[in-house]
Amino acid sequence: MSNIGYLNGRFAPLAEIAISPDDRGFLFGDGIYEMVRAYHGVPAFWEDHCARLNRSAREIQLSFSIQPQDFHRLLLTGLQQSGYAEGKIYIQVTRGVAPREHGFPVKTEPTVFLSFREMSALPLEFIRQGVSVITTPDIRWDRCDIKSLNLLPNVLAKQRAHEAKAFEAIFVRDGFVSEGATSNLFMVRDGQLKTPERNHFVLSGVTQQQVINVAHEQGQEVQFDRIALDALYQADEVFLVGTTIEVLPVVKVDGRKINDGVPGPLTCELQKRFAHLVAQLIP
Ligand SMILES: Cc1ncc(COP(=O)(O)O)c(C=O)c1O
Repeated sequence: MSNIGYLNGRFAPLAEIAISPDDRGFLFGDGIYEMVRAYHGVPAFWEDHCARLNRSAREIQLSFSIQPQDFHRLLLTGLQQSGYAEGKIYIQVTRGVAPREHGFPVKTEPTVFLSFREMSALPLEFIRQGVSVITTPDIRWDRCDIKSLNLLPNVLAKQRAHEAKAFEAIFVRDGFVSEGATSNLFMVRDGQLKTPERNHFVLSGVTQQQVINVAHEQGQEVQFDRIALDALYQADEVFLVGTTIEVLPVVKVDGRKINDGVPGPLTCELQKRFAHLVAQLIP
């Protein structure tokens, strides 16, 4: 088993893949990405990731011509070559290689890069006992709905979280929470399940949507709402969702306990149902 890379039509050991120093992804962050998780060799929720990748591409006027089915085959081939059943597939598409000029280059092919690595499981105590998060001002641009390569604010926020011994940093804009540096957020108050309203300040999460579907299936309504930071502090339950973390309880925000500081019942139920959903993906 080994890490595999793919660059513009060719698979190779990841360590042997070389990207041009003139790649616009490297020079400008001029590109988009996705992270897909494979369970037992099956790329999960591929249609959703593919749709979001295509949307991100459209929003930055980047065209690339891999059809969804061909892309899916690439994922399966890379996974097979890597030998990882539990895999983490990173997909990056950039505006290609050209001498450094800000304007779009003419006649440059996009760079399509994929990496296939092993997905390492989160510590069990995070999943069972929950994690702490901090909040941080949202200094990002106002197109956070695009999964673009420009992640410096997310990098800085995550580092702040690490330094505070917290798992995640939650962005706050004008007193309202939007999402985590690498996750979406839900809260429960008086039996109501809420997630921040979808707009240009939030990425529409693939896991977020799957969790919403799972909640609906159990008759639980979900509200898209503005969530003030104070409301988050006073929530009965808080949890994070994302491709690599699935459903993760939050028991402390900025050092304040959420409710009695243990994962709440709805969070645990959704955790269970999400695990059941991904188990069903495996043939
Ligand atoms: C900023 C941000 N929000 C939300 C998410 C969760 O999205 P998904 O469930 O599609 O992984 C991510 C995942 O990387 C993210 O980076």
